[in-house]
Amino acid sequence: MVKTIVIASDHGGYNLKTICIKTLEEWGYEVQDEGPSSLDSCDYPLYAAKVTAEVKADDDKLGVLICGTGLGMSMTANRMGVRAALCSNEFHARMAREHNDARILCLGERVTGQGVALGILKLFLETEFGGGRHQRRVDLIDTVSN
Ligand code: RB5
Repeated sequence: MVKTIVIASDHGGYNLKTICIKTLEEWGYEVQDEGPSSLDSCDYPLYAAKVTAEVKADDDKLGVLICGTGLGMSMTANRMGVRAALCSNEFHARMAREHNDARILCLGERVTGQGVALGILKLFLETEFGGGRHQRRVDLIDTVSN
C-alpha cells in the first residue's frame, strides 16, 4: 500500500490542499507538501512539475494536485509523462485507479465541494489497479504517444 502522498496546489486550490493534508495525516499517510505555503497568486505549472517529478522518480508515491478547476494541473502532469486524472466524483476516482492506473489525482477546488473531494481522495488511494487488459491499454497510451 502506498504510504507517501506528494501534494501541491496553486492559490485556487490552496484551501482544499490544507484540508486534504490534515485528512491524509489522520488516515495515517505520510504527506510531502510541495507548496505553496500561502494563498498568494502563483503559477500552477510550477507546482504540478514538482509533484510530477517526485511521483515519476518513485513508484511508491502517489500525487495529488489541486487548482481552481484541476484542468491546468492535469494537463501539466500528463504532458510530463505521468498519468494524472481529474476526478469530480467517486466513480471517476475508482476507475482512474482500477482501469487507468493513474498515479496523480487532480481536483478542482472551485468545482468540487470539500466532502465530495475527500470521498474521491479516499477511493483513489484505496483502489488497486486491475491489471490484465487494462495494463495492455495503459501501455498503449505510451505506444501511441511516442
Ligand atoms: C487560477 O485562477 C486558475 O486558472 C487555476 O487555479 C486553474 O484552474 C487552472 O487550470
